[in-house]
Amino acid sequence: MQNKRVRKAVIPAAGLGTRFLPATKSLPKEMLPIVDVPNIQHIVKEAVDSGIESILIITSGTKGAIEHHFDYDFELETRLRQSGKDELADQVHAIGDMADIFYVRQKNPKGLGHAILCAKDFVGDEPFAILLGDDLVVPGPEEGPAIGHLIDCYERLGKTVVGVKKVDHAAISKYASVKPAGEACDDGSPFLLSDMVEKPRPEEAFTDYAILGRYVVTPDIFEILAHTAPGRNGEIQLTDALRQQALKGQAAAAVFPGTRYDIGDKFGYVKAVIDFALFREDIGPQVREYLEQLVKEK
Ligand code: G1P
Repeated sequence: MQNKRVRKAVIPAAGLGTRFLPATKSLPKEMLPIVDVPNIQHIVKEAVDSGIESILIITSGTKGAIEHHFDYDFELETRLRQSGKDELADQVHAIGDMADIFYVRQKNPKGLGHAILCAKDFVGDEPFAILLGDDLVVPGPEEGPAIGHLIDCYERLGKTVVGVKKVDHAAISKYASVKPAGEACDDGSPFLLSDMVEKPRPEEAFTDYAILGRYVVTPDIFEILAHTAPGRNGEIQLTDALRQQALKGQAAAAVFPGTRYDIGDKFGYVKAVIDFALFREDIGPQVREYLEQLVKEK
């Protein structure tokens, strides 16, 4: 039997963004701009570029700006057109056409696993993608989108596939560490997992292959999540539910392509902004000159 196509994606965006206060007091952290594009727009684009048709964004009380961003704004467009800024108006309009986007609120901040459980009705009985906004992945010139790679792996295997990359051993405690059933592969091919653990101490980690915010998951995860007790930090952890699949030989990992930025971290965010600015046609040369000057002066 052919594996079902992956058509739906879930983007959890309910977190408080405490690491970016005071900016995130009224601004959703997902709306923080990477130069002039809000991070969540990059995430939605990655999903759309990978063939995803419908997206569910899991929000919470203060996230209204996300919905406005993916809506049309007639007043803004009209004003832009009246002042001859048609190109900008088209650009703003196109954001409303990116995908079919749905929203649901996570009413209780009980963890990532609980947030994903809020997607049960939207997803139904299909495999689906999960993209975490704190992980921004930029494909290289010859590379496709990260989630697209995991979708390809899923379509071959018919099992859950988590996206991983090797991190520094000391950093593994920020992530989930996976245990390959056999040899791990660095070339992007999927490899079966036998276990995984959420945010282990370095000495408890299975390997330094960390799950970095990209997943394609089979829908039986919802039944598992409904029975998953709170784990690390007292939260219902997605990793604990995925672990149940891994223990049954039903989960794999694949190293995904692209450069990944941890933009939930202040330094990671600044790096992303600098890199994006450097590669922009409009301001790139100016930014490069400025940085070179800065290095000479220090
Ligand atoms: C979450 C997941 C963790 C994963 C990480 C990826 O943690 O719980 O398993 O490795 O995202 O960035 P968070 O960073 O939300 O605490």
